[in-house]
Amino acid sequence: PPGKPLHLQHRAAPLIHRNLHSGSRLSSTAASKLKSGSSGGGLTSEEIYAREDKYGAHNYHPLPVALERGEGIYVWDVEGTRYYDFLSAYSAVNQGHCHPKIVAALAAQASKLALTSRAFYNDVLGAYEEYVTTLFGYDKVLPMNTGVEAGETACKLARKWAYTVKGVPKNQAKIIFANGNFWGRTMAAISSSTDPSSYEGFGPYMPGFELIPYNDIPALEKALQDPNVAAFMVEPIQGEAGVVVPDQGYLTKVRELCTKHNVLWIADEVQTGLARTGRRLAVDHEGAHPDIVMLGKALSGGVYPVSAVLCDNEIMLTIKPGEHGSTYGGNPIACRVAIAALEVLEEEKLAENAERMGNLLRSELNKLPKDIVTTVRGKGLLNAIVIKETKDYDAWKVCLRLRDNGLLAKPTHGDIIRFAPPLIIKEHELQDCVDIIQRTIMSF
Ligand SMILES: Cc1ncc(COP(=O)(O)O)c(C=O)c1O
Repeated sequence: PPGKPLHLQHRAAPLIHRNLHSGSRLSSTAASKLKSGSSGGGLTSEEIYAREDKYGAHNYHPLPVALERGEGIYVWDVEGTRYYDFLSAYSAVNQGHCHPKIVAALAAQASKLALTSRAFYNDVLGAYEEYVTTLFGYDKVLPMNTGVEAGETACKLARKWAYTVKGVPKNQAKIIFANGNFWGRTMAAISSSTDPSSYEGFGPYMPGFELIPYNDIPALEKALQDPNVAAFMVEPIQGEAGVVVPDQGYLTKVRELCTKHNVLWIADEVQTGLARTGRRLAVDHEGAHPDIVMLGKALSGGVYPVSAVLCDNEIMLTIKPGEHGSTYGGNPIACRVAIAALEVLEEEKLAENAERMGNLLRSELNKLPKDIVTTVRGKGLLNAIVIKETKDYDAWKVCLRLRDNGLLAKPTHGDIIRFAPPLIIKEHELQDCVDIIQRTIMSF
C-alpha cells in the first residue's frame, strides 16, 4: 500500500523454506513475511488477529484493532485508519505516543551504552537518581522495570524495615491491602487480589497479606491495631477496579493513621502518578506524603519498561548489597528515558492540562443519558463511565462502536469503560472525542 515502508511491501520469490524449529514447511507468503523481518508484513487486521491467536498465549482479550503506528494522541491501524487513543496503554503513554524528546533520548543512549548491569557503575544512573529523588522529595530511589516489580520491591522493603527497624518478630510481618487493588500478575500481586480472574487456580498464596475494604478508615484503624503490621499498600485512585475515587480526605487520614501506628504507607502511583490525575502524584491532591511511592508506566513515556520505588534512608538502607535487584533495573537507556519523560511532564505542564481537560471531559460526559451511562467518575484524565447493560448492548459493544467511530477505549470489569487519553490532548481535540462518544452512546 502507498506510504508503507518498502521493506513491508516486499514479497519474496515463491520458495519453500524449512522452519528449523518445527521442521514444518512454510508457504511462500509466510516465508517472505519471516524473511522481511517485519512484524506486520503487510497483513490485514483479520490476519493479524488470527496469527496472534494461533501463536500467542490467550492471556488477553484485545479489542479487535491492529495498530502499526502512533503519534501524540493518535494511533493508526494496518489499514491506515486513525483513532484517538483513549487508553494510553493503561496510562503509560501520558506524554503521547513516540514523544520526540523521549524517543531521541532512547535512541541516543541506545547507540552509546545500553546495559551494564549493576555489577559496574555507569555515568547515567546517578544523574537519574539525583533528578528523580529531588523532584519527588525522597532520599533515595530503587530502580526496577515493570510496575509489578515496584510492588514486589515495596513489599520487600516494608518487611525488611519491619524486622530491622520496627522490631516485628521474624516472619510475622503483615502487609494490608485494599479490596479491589491491582498491582500486577506475580505470585505476590495475585495473593493480595480480590479478583478471582487474577488469583483463582494459582494457589497457594503468599502469607502475611491481609485485606480491608477500600476507602474505609475505620477498617484501616482496626487493622493497624496489630503490632505486626509493616505496611498498608493502596492506590490513591483504584485504576483497574474501574477508576474508584475515594472520599476527599481519605489519603490524609491514611497518612495520620499509619504515622500513629508506626506502619509504612505505600502509595501505588503506577497508574495514578506522573500527572495523570491532574497533579504530579495523585497524593498531591491532599498534600499527603507516603513513606514509599511506587512509579512505573509513564515513567518512560511508554517507550521502555521503567519503574521505581522512592523512600527515605530509614527504609531504603535496610536492604543491603545482594538482597534485591534486577539485571535491567537502572540501565542507562532506562535512566535517560526516565529523565526525558519526567522533563516532558514538567516542561509541557501536563498535570495542569490533565486537570483542565479532565474537568471539561467529565462535565460533557455528565450530559449523556443517565439510562445508558449511569455514572461518570474520575480525576484529571483518569476517568470512567458505567454502562447500564441491556440485552442489546454492554460496555464491550459500546467500545466496538467507539472504535468504528474512531476512538479506542477498553472495558474494565464488565460494565465500566475507562477514558484516559494522553495528557497532551488539546481542547478542540477533546471536544471532537466528546462528539464521538456522544454520537456512539446516542446510537444505542
Ligand atoms: C496501580 C497499578 N500498579 C501496578 C501495576 C503493574 O504494572 P505492570 O503491568 O507494569 O507490571 C498496574 C498495571 O496496570 C497498576 O495499574
